[in-house]
Amino acid sequence: MPHRRDFLRSAAALPALPLLARRAAGQPPPDVVSFSGLIVREAEPRNLEFPFTTLDRFVLPTERFYVRNHFAVPKIDPADWKLKVEGAVEKPLELTLDELKKLPSATRPVTLECAGNGRVFLTPKASGVAWQLGAVGNAEWTGVSLAAVLDRAGVSTKADTAEVVLEGADQGAITADPKSPGPIHFARSLPIRKARQPEVMLAWAMNGADLTPDHGSPLRAVVPGWYGMASVKWLTRLVVTERPFRGWWQTLHYSYFVREGGLPVLRSLSEIQVKASIARPALGEVVPAKSTHRVFGAAWTGEGEIARVEVSTDGGTTWADATLIDKSVKYCWRLWEYLWKTPDRRGKYTLMARATDSRGRTQPAQRNPDLRGYAIHHVIPVEVEVR
Ligand code: MTE
Repeated sequence: MPHRRDFLRSAAALPALPLLARRAAGQPPPDVVSFSGLIVREAEPRNLEFPFTTLDRFVLPTERFYVRNHFAVPKIDPADWKLKVEGAVEKPLELTLDELKKLPSATRPVTLECAGNGRVFLTPKASGVAWQLGAVGNAEWTGVSLAAVLDRAGVSTKADTAEVVLEGADQGAITADPKSPGPIHFARSLPIRKARQPEVMLAWAMNGADLTPDHGSPLRAVVPGWYGMASVKWLTRLVVTERPFRGWWQTLHYSYFVREGGLPVLRSLSEIQVKASIARPALGEVVPAKSTHRVFGAAWTGEGEIARVEVSTDGGTTWADATLIDKSVKYCWRLWEYLWKTPDRRGKYTLMARATDSRGRTQPAQRNPDLRGYAIHHVIPVEVEVR
């Protein structure tokens, strides 16, 4: 990876090449904003946001990756740690990290997005951490498939309703309404169909190094295509259940309303919704008139792939296609850019981006209040000043 100073030096020395040609020539775009640290949204438990305006690459280094913790980081000695596998299984297991590492492993990039990412843009205000755009990141994860571990234990139920509960070592009592029944662990379940998909991993490494305590050391789940709450950190136990798990974290929390026969019912959050976010220009940025200015961001979705990103520079009246950068990688964000020919007329302009995925799902213009404080994926305007 180039050193940041070399990066700046080469950026400063750039000839006036068109942006796409610059990238083809291996040169960085000229508008890179330096990373000045994660933003503290809560000090304890640690909740840290990636400053999205500094987005500049496909894989984020670990120190730039957001952190979402509900409780204090548990102290775990990997040498004493074991993963228990129990419930509706033929052979309950206790696996050490070394035993897990001996199973066939894989490394793959996956984008995680917190279900509350973008909550600060909700009106009326929703309770929960006030994330802006940066409770999202793409990293490379190394681990074993959850399916391989389930196969070793032998799932003993054929029920379609079967689930796998993933439990973390962290715990605490939720004292604000809706209160928990005393201290509880962070725990979420996956339907057995998703749990068996080869992309669902139990990971011990992030970006080529052992997981850090903040990111779930020694072992965490990585559930591609689902909001981040499913990717349980500090895993200690997998429990196979015959019927859906109704734990606190997927009924009273991380749930949304759907309408069934006209009746609102709560459903547990799962798949990531299609979304594009603008990294630059940032809100309030001054953009030169009569120039070509790069609008840059990332787009991602759940089980599909990003097929299109459109940009509007007139508050949503007209839209033009952005260029999707690099190849599409399933379960990862896709970087995009749009070269804006800025107007002669000075003044405020409202930029917007909207994504469509391979299943034809397009980001909505308006917020659906049934989603409560989660899955914030409606189009978010960015007002800039042309001067
Ligand atoms: N796992 C445990 N055990 N405890 C947690 O608080 N937070 C979840 C998930 N896994 C959480 C957890 C949420 S809401 C998100 S968005 C992701 O972890 C964030 O992962 P990260 O902190 O590595 O970015």
